[in-house]
Amino acid sequence: MAKIIAGIGSSHVPAIGAALDNGKTEEPYWKRVFSGFEKSKEWMAKTKPDVAIVVYNDHASAFSVEMIPTFALGCAAEFPPADEGWGPRPVPVVKGHPALAAHIAQSVILDEFDLTIVNKMEVDHGLTVPMNLLFGQPKDAWPCPVIPLAVNVVMYPPPTGHRCYMLGKAIRKAVESYPEDLKVVIFGTGGLSHQISGPRAGLINSKWDKSFLDNLTKDPKKLTRIPHIDYMREAGAEGIEMVMWLIMRGALDDKIDEVYRFYTVPASNTAVGHIILENRRKAASKNKRAAAAKSRQAAARKAAHRIASKGR
Ligand SMILES: [Fe+2]
Repeated sequence: MAKIIAGIGSSHVPAIGAALDNGKTEEPYWKRVFSGFEKSKEWMAKTKPDVAIVVYNDHASAFSVEMIPTFALGCAAEFPPADEGWGPRPVPVVKGHPALAAHIAQSVILDEFDLTIVNKMEVDHGLTVPMNLLFGQPKDAWPCPVIPLAVNVVMYPPPTGHRCYMLGKAIRKAVESYPEDLKVVIFGTGGLSHQISGPRAGLINSKWDKSFLDNLTKDPKKLTRIPHIDYMREAGAEGIEMVMWLIMRGALDDKIDEVYRFYTVPASNTAVGHIILENRRKAASKNKRAAAAKSRQAAARKAAHRIASKGR
């Protein structure tokens, strides 16, 4: 059986990609950002997932304003990097996992979430920047297949946080009904607080961001009740990207372990946030084993009692 073992939240600031691609990672401004992901790369290298589901948003690279799917699941065998105006980023082509993606599409759609199935798609910085931050900069191939899930947070109306959270739960159910043993991680990307245009351009709200991260770990249901207008007001027009983190959180256990967090401001006028959350699988299976042992002991005691009674 496939299992989602952990969730990763990460900003996907395009300038981080540009800093990587142009050899600026050692510059003090960028070093502050990249140093926050060193432990994450170590965690990922140890975790070695078989598949990563990456929830991100397309920035008018694969989908123009002519067609804006709310939830678009990448079911193709591969996803080339998009040309975002300066040519495609020099990163490997993202290989998909068509069999698991098709299984997720079937399960989730039959659970009444109307995903768009995408069989051809390019992926932009929204997906490739978090991949770099967690997997480094491989030359030839990313270390595992990826299932992209593009969410519309670019044009009103984006999905609600609650809808995203429930979709995460449906994705988890889908993954857990896939027969092959696969370790799956899920990324929620975007944010944190930022606004890139208008009179409030450059807005950052660290207090809001910190509270979002705290609740993501401890009380995600509280986050599902935040209306869009509060994201806009408190976290800036582009802060609405944070609803995508709720898909990741919905796909995890109610109680999880926060194993890492990083937050820094600014990076290209945005707040950079990052979190790693692990499911408590070990504890759960330990409890299960203890309960099974207890019921075996009780059955043995009953059987011994029956034999003793017959002998009397
Ligand atoms: Fe974005």
